[in-house]
Amino acid sequence: MSEDNIESTLHEDRHFPPSADFIRTASTNADKLASLYTQAEQNNTEFWADQARTEIDWQTPFSTTLDSSNAPFFRWFPDGKLNVSYNCLDRQLEHNADKTAIIFEADNGDVEYISYRELHRRVCVFANTLKAQGIEQGDRVIIYMPMIAEAVIAMQACARIGAIHSVVFGGFSSSSLKDRIEDTQAKLVITADGGNRGGRIIELKATTDGALEQGCDSINSVIVLQRTAHDISMQSGRDIWWHDAEQGQSEQCEPTWVDATHPLFILYTSGSTGKPKGIQHSSGGYLLNAITTMRWVFDINDSDVFWCTADVGWITGHTYVAYGPLATGSTIVIFEGVPTYPDAGRFWDMCQRHCVSIFYTAPTAIRALMKAGDEIPNKYDLSQLRLLGTVGEPINPKAWMWYHTVIGKEKCPIVDTWWQTETGAHMVAPMPVTTITKPGSCTRALPGIDASIVNDDGDEITKANQGGYLVIRQPWPSMIQTVWGDDQRYKDTYWPMFDGKYYLAGDSARRDEEGYFWIMGRIDDVLNVSGHRLGTMEIESAIVSHPQVAEAAVVGQPHDIKGEAVFAYVVLKGERPAGGVDDTLTQELRAWVGEQIGAIAKPDDIRYADNLPKTRSGKIMRRLLRTIAKGEEITSDTSTLENESILPQLQGKA
Ligand code: WT7
Repeated sequence: MSEDNIESTLHEDRHFPPSADFIRTASTNADKLASLYTQAEQNNTEFWADQARTEIDWQTPFSTTLDSSNAPFFRWFPDGKLNVSYNCLDRQLEHNADKTAIIFEADNGDVEYISYRELHRRVCVFANTLKAQGIEQGDRVIIYMPMIAEAVIAMQACARIGAIHSVVFGGFSSSSLKDRIEDTQAKLVITADGGNRGGRIIELKATTDGALEQGCDSINSVIVLQRTAHDISMQSGRDIWWHDAEQGQSEQCEPTWVDATHPLFILYTSGSTGKPKGIQHSSGGYLLNAITTMRWVFDINDSDVFWCTADVGWITGHTYVAYGPLATGSTIVIFEGVPTYPDAGRFWDMCQRHCVSIFYTAPTAIRALMKAGDEIPNKYDLSQLRLLGTVGEPINPKAWMWYHTVIGKEKCPIVDTWWQTETGAHMVAPMPVTTITKPGSCTRALPGIDASIVNDDGDEITKANQGGYLVIRQPWPSMIQTVWGDDQRYKDTYWPMFDGKYYLAGDSARRDEEGYFWIMGRIDDVLNVSGHRLGTMEIESAIVSHPQVAEAAVVGQPHDIKGEAVFAYVVLKGERPAGGVDDTLTQELRAWVGEQIGAIAKPDDIRYADNLPKTRSGKIMRRLLRTIAKGEEITSDTSTLENESILPQLQGKA
């Protein structure tokens, strides 16, 4: 968060109660929402048991709500059995079969409508296809797909047969894909011959081939969806076209009933070490909070058209594209392309054409579209919108106000939702029917979520506006189960302080006089670039693996659209060229990081020096590097630096 944002949010006193227009369309009742808090305060576990009985169709009802005997490995509804795909699809067949489940819009503007009946049929056929490929309950399946309906079909098909999916974002490189395949020991990859984004083709199959060339011995087959029909190579005996694999498969597929704690998916996210963590989520608890937040935060009702713009490669695309909205029988929009193609009106044009009523996106997209000017959204009829949401990073009040006035026409509440890959669903967020919002604050914890801010000793900070660690003090259903294959890392990362009593989110936050939460930033070496989490160590090790690089340090630099940009300091092997490093090397290093991780991790800026600023004990002074990246004056004492003379180089002055 830039100083500018901190300054403006500290003095925020604008309040936005739900508009009369919104209240007229609201599906949840204010008194009922308020009573949820009372119920949860009386008995948190019983509260969640109640929700789980109401919201989920269990094949075998649970008798135990929460097993804490092996904390922090909490197990929700451990003896209950269900199927997530059944809860999303079969439940709709009796009364809602002809309702549109998915409105899919391709990059080129083609639109396809898929009813619940049709979605159910396609998921069943593909689930049987997976079985025919030898996939059994508990097997891992990698999904590396464009943002198209088939990505959701693939996820739902895995859920149907109890296979554990791990979706890898289509922007990740061969090398990142390979790491995820090897860590999960997946048997199968589902990909496409390509995806369309902004008029260009994303070479998903070629990247998959690149990953499989590097190892990945666990993979037996690759299912390839024909999407672009451009030339790709198919390896016989390993690769099979989706449409060929589906030949002769039945449209009936009895759901596989799994324990509530059976892993539904693994999703990788960056942390403070070089290696991304496989966040493991459950079936029952995860599904429950996907549903409750659809109701409380998105106020979803039967006639809504719900559009969450996130890619299924991220947690937002899991909870609020593939699972939550379908489990509540909603109509969703899925969009293959990018917000600026063919022009910066694409989102608003789509909102108008598809009559979108709930729109959920990231602050980075809002800032980029705000920059394009008001004339663009003003050309479209956005009157169907009734609720707006944001996620991924703090939203600066200026962008919030633009979203509120230009997009929401001052009648749509904005839900600023704080949560994480690990939390599975919204944790601190407005319930728009009752919550008075303030620009830049994610407001209050949801019912049953015991969020707090504590100091180093784990004591609650009650003083207004004093920052501390954001923690969750009681388990909640959609919480991370563990780090895939690494229980110790799960404990070390999320329960390292306060005697392992509280879940440590990794964010710092403060509460204002009214108890509203304000997220201040990460406490670890994690950057938030366009709402995506990137580990500085991960990028550093990618840079250092280049043959010409001796050492690297990566910090975040405030960026007016991305929130944070990647700024790298690099020490080359051998002498630094007297005339400065030539630009081709900079371009090469950027491309190198793109190949090692993916385009989102490419440094925006690279600065070369003979050395990195270190303390006498050899620790890189990151705070100093951040100050320099911001272009600010160095006011801290640098005399403890082992090599003060490199400062001008780092500042780009020598
Ligand atoms: C981190 C989680 C949850 C889906 C998208 C990102 C930051 C997330 C907000 C918000 C301020 C936010 C936090 C969090 N973050 N939402 N509304 N306000 N910060 O998921 O990649 O797991 O990242 O994103 O720092 O810890 P993720």
